[in-house]
Amino acid sequence: MKVIIRDDAKSASVWAAHYIADKINAKAKTTDKPFVIGLCTGSTPIETYKELIALVKAGKVSFKNVISFNMDEYVGLPESHSESYHSFMHKYLFDQIDEPAGNIHILNGNAADLEKECADYEKAIVEAGGIDLFLGGIGEDGHIAFNEPFSSLNSRTRVVTLTEDTRIVNSRFFDNDVNKVPRQALSVGVATVTDSKEVVILAYGPKKARALRDAIEGPCSHVCTVSALQLHPAGTIVCDEAAIGECKLNSYKYFKAVEEAELP
Ligand code: GLP
Repeated sequence: MKVIIRDDAKSASVWAAHYIADKINAKAKTTDKPFVIGLCTGSTPIETYKELIALVKAGKVSFKNVISFNMDEYVGLPESHSESYHSFMHKYLFDQIDEPAGNIHILNGNAADLEKECADYEKAIVEAGGIDLFLGGIGEDGHIAFNEPFSSLNSRTRVVTLTEDTRIVNSRFFDNDVNKVPRQALSVGVATVTDSKEVVILAYGPKKARALRDAIEGPCSHVCTVSALQLHPAGTIVCDEAAIGECKLNSYKYFKAVEEAELP
């Protein structure tokens, strides 16, 4: 696991956007096959999306040959609802880049057959050639996508029940009324994420510090599902100083030294 630490969330977000753009461009140089990216929602990726939009507008990267799969969506929330992940993705990314509409995949939380929707999603990922890079955020409890604590680290796309904690945290998007937050979601599994060739996780601010400590220094455990990254050969955490704050000083120094020695 690599850990990239920046002074603040803004510079970490810019780093992540340029890293992703470089990966898209590098694949385009070697093959006509599309770059397949996994995408996340939440406040964390917004600045990275802003920077990617700027790079597209400046002609530095294009999403014309990119296929995307989003991580999750609430069950039963209309797609048109301002807090659906469909609305979020269009507002913060898709409406401002050149990715063809047919290349965008987001789970349908209103499908008549939710289990079929999830199974079809896994198939679509395989048919696209597998995910090259999965971009994720984390919940305060270390959940990745909506893989709450005790999700199997081998889990696949499925219907999940949200914890009360997650619903309380996410109630800030629903008039601070926890009763308005859906109780279930569709989510890619931990293994759907770790099957990707590369995983990049963003984590900013003190509220993520305990989850990051557990993910980096704790055991690989279903209690903190992002800790599955420990078993991935190409996992990178991109964080700010606040989010790394609960890790040991020696861990912090090591990650800084590795970046200095190995990264361009
Ligand atoms: C939700 C999403 C996660 C996201 C998390 C963190 O739970 N399902 O994918 O990582 O929120 O959100 P934020 O970035 O707003 O802290």
